[in-house]
Amino acid sequence: MRVPAKLNLQLAVGPPRADGYHDLVTVFHAVSLFDEITARPAGRDGVSVTGEGADRVPEDGDNLALRAVAALREAAVPASPADAGGVHITIAKRIPVAAGLAGGSADAAAALVACNELWGTGLGQPQLLEIAARVGSDVAFAVLGGTAVGRGRGERLTPALAPATPYHWVLAFADGQLSTPAVYAALDRLRAAEAGAPAAKRRAAEPVLDAALMSALRSGDARQLGRALSNDLQPAALSLFPALRKTLAAGIELGALGALVSGSGPTCLFLAASADRALDLAASLSGAGVCRSVARATGPVPGAAVVPAAR
Ligand code: C5P
Repeated sequence: MRVPAKLNLQLAVGPPRADGYHDLVTVFHAVSLFDEITARPAGRDGVSVTGEGADRVPEDGDNLALRAVAALREAAVPASPADAGGVHITIAKRIPVAAGLAGGSADAAAALVACNELWGTGLGQPQLLEIAARVGSDVAFAVLGGTAVGRGRGERLTPALAPATPYHWVLAFADGQLSTPAVYAALDRLRAAEAGAPAAKRRAAEPVLDAALMSALRSGDARQLGRALSNDLQPAALSLFPALRKTLAAGIELGALGALVSGSGPTCLFLAASADRALDLAASLSGAGVCRSVARATGPVPGAAVVPAAR
């Protein structure tokens, strides 16, 4: 299986809910930075991880991919009691860990789709999306891929109707990580401080889909898209990781059409006008010493998909 990283082209965050989550309106966009996952029958469930940041991925029941396997088994076993044996998942990571690119969610989505194939469970995409949403807020999108509007925790998805324009992205990976719950908590604190009231007393506005962003996507106009990128979590991520300001500023100075912290960060994303511009921007950014490393990616790309096993 191959499964893509996600960017949020818009991430509008509402007030905290009673369950600790925040209502979102987000525009997800899958890009060509992939983890590779295999699933093989085994005596009992297990996972092994290699590649980018592998030492920071849990290999026990906390692993999101194993949670996805368990969730599928629970949902599917009544229908096919004979088959759902153990499974060993191997994950070759290229999506950095805790980077705002939903790498863990991607692996969970791939494990879900892989076990659905392996066990011949035969669940359709709507059922897989429902199970995915229970595993994590971003898992359903990694099953779907493309460009899609997410609501609720981000798990209620509507594919964006847009021409198949490829966009050229440069990703700047940071030297460090950010914890998603910590960034959401920092946003709540920043908003409370702005309002001069304790967090409990103030409600952030309900999130709204950005019409300018959707219009840019419909027209396939990269310049317009670059101007419309937005992320409510960005000030919170910058407050916890101030060095990212320099990274964003460097990208804009080097001619990016738009620059944004990706999700809860600390990866920064930059939109380039063409594949050649992306190549130049990636080279200049990596020379500027404002990040750990850079990668180029195009989007949108499909969600978790079976690819022939490597020989
Ligand atoms: O759903 P997931 O496990 O990916 O979310 C990780 C954490 O991110 C949550 O525990 C919560 O603190 C925060 N979160 C949130 N609102 C969302 C999605 C995530 O507060 N819509």
